[in-house]
Amino acid sequence: MVWMAILKIARMGHPVLVQRAQPVEDPSAEEVRRLVADMAETMIDAEGIGLAAPQVHRSLRLILFLDAEDRAEMQGRRPLALINPEIEPFDDTLESGWEGCLSIPGLRGVVPRYARIGYRGLTLDGGTIEREAQGLHARVVQHEVDHLDGILYPMRMPDLRELTFETELKYFMTQSDEEEPHEPADQP
Ligand code: NI
Repeated sequence: MVWMAILKIARMGHPVLVQRAQPVEDPSAEEVRRLVADMAETMIDAEGIGLAAPQVHRSLRLILFLDAEDRAEMQGRRPLALINPEIEPFDDTLESGWEGCLSIPGLRGVVPRYARIGYRGLTLDGGTIEREAQGLHARVVQHEVDHLDGILYPMRMPDLRELTFETELKYFMTQSDEEEPHEPADQP
């Protein structure tokens, strides 16, 4: 029987979240496989859409995320693990959107991200993944890779007036949002 564990999530203020994480030396190591399984359990339990190893107090370049362009497509998916990931933006086009973070519970903020990116990294069996992403998919990957460089989403915000408690998000909603409400529950 394989026992999986729900890990404790580091919160903003813990030094591990502002360090630069180290590359994973052997992606196929049993220890890495176990960490990925535990991180997947932790992310699902916390209802997150992404999780980076530093968030569970492991300063390694390893991320998990749901690889879909919108929340509806994310339903029921298993997280994808990416080791030593790298990102390249397609062009300079930025998109602003609400983000949350499991390490900053209860808050949301508006963050500009590259609209379209290419990313690559290694899989648990030593293979290489190379993909293109846009929408929420691109946003989540950029958010998670930032964690590996010690960057939390408020550090990317041009306007801190748009940093808010979830419970106060209603004050940011415009008329059109009320017709088609945000789904501001993303917590990478
Ligand atoms: Ni986060």
